[in-house]
Amino acid sequence: MAPSSSTLKLLLTFLASYALVAYAGSLNQNFDVTWGDGRGKILNNGGLLTLSLDRASGSGFQSRNEFLFGKIDMQLKLVPGNSAGTVTAYYLSSKGSTWDEIDFEFLGNLSGDPYILHTNIFTQGKGNREQQFYLWFDPTSNFHTYSVLWNPQVIIFSVDGTPIRKFKNSESIGIPFPKKQPMRLYSSLWNADDWATRGGLVKTDWTQAPFTASYRNFNAKACLWSSGSSSCSSKSPSSRTSNNNTWMKEDLDTTSQARLKWVQKNYMIYNYCTDTKRFPQGFPPECAITNA
Ligand SMILES: *[C@@H]1O[C@H](CO)[C@@H](O)[C@H](O)[C@H]1NC(C)=O
Ligand SMILES: *[C@@H]1O[C@H](CO)[C@@H](O)[C@H](O)[C@H]1NC(C)=O
Repeated sequence: MAPSSSTLKLLLTFLASYALVAYAGSLNQNFDVTWGDGRGKILNNGGLLTLSLDRASGSGFQSRNEFLFGKIDMQLKLVPGNSAGTVTAYYLSSKGSTWDEIDFEFLGNLSGDPYILHTNIFTQGKGNREQQFYLWFDPTSNFHTYSVLWNPQVIIFSVDGTPIRKFKNSESIGIPFPKKQPMRLYSSLWNADDWATRGGLVKTDWTQAPFTASYRNFNAKACLWSSGSSSCSSKSPSSRTSNNNTWMKEDLDTTSQARLKWVQKNYMIYNYCTDTKRFPQGFPPECAITNA
């Protein structure tokens, strides 16, 4: 006999509270569309999520769970065609005035011109750590996987498994690292034509609206945060024995270090750590750390 749905629910609740690793299922179990008045949609039984933007509004969603560390993958297909002026943000963020945040932002462009993948990291409410990249493929023609590995030692941004940015825990030299505040996953599609495309020179062409970005295959191994405690510090023996938490210790191996260097050499178009105009008094201290 098939288990009843209430038995399944009990089991899922049990797994959610005690499992070290949260293997994510369908999008409608993991996310809520939180704004946009119907412009955000979960389709195909939770297999696909779309956000759209028109002149009246953008839209957005957020995860039901909060995470304190995780390895989180999602596939995104960005607004195709003339997407100039639009921004698709995909990020982890905690709450409050000294929040932590790990950002991917995709800045649209005219048809055929390259998107910019903008990244930033906030620790305790302070950001100003922008790095920007072109991609080595057209991010609008297919889904591609964008990942964040966030464990107590590193934050690594990856695209289709290739690391593009690493932020090392350097608390030992006084640089704050996100490790106490749980974060939720958010995404939104909105109009930012005052700055997004060629610094605001190219405006959104509303005759092309609605603009649509799509999401699928959410997959997370993460420590879930619930009622003030992390599933990873659970005393439950099952949480320590039955799960594979190698991601908690993961860092770049030699092959991925070489990939990261390849991206930084060929696709990085802005790095705050080399912007002398912006930091005439000297770069932020983490810029002295080798992040390869
Ligand atoms: C858009 O295309 C222009 C021209 O190729 C390029 O300079 C710019 O970096 C591209 N991306 C954005 C988001 O402006
Ligand atoms: C744990 O996961 C890693 C990578 O995800 C894998 O290489 C390793 O074989 C797994 N170990 C076990 C015991 O399942």
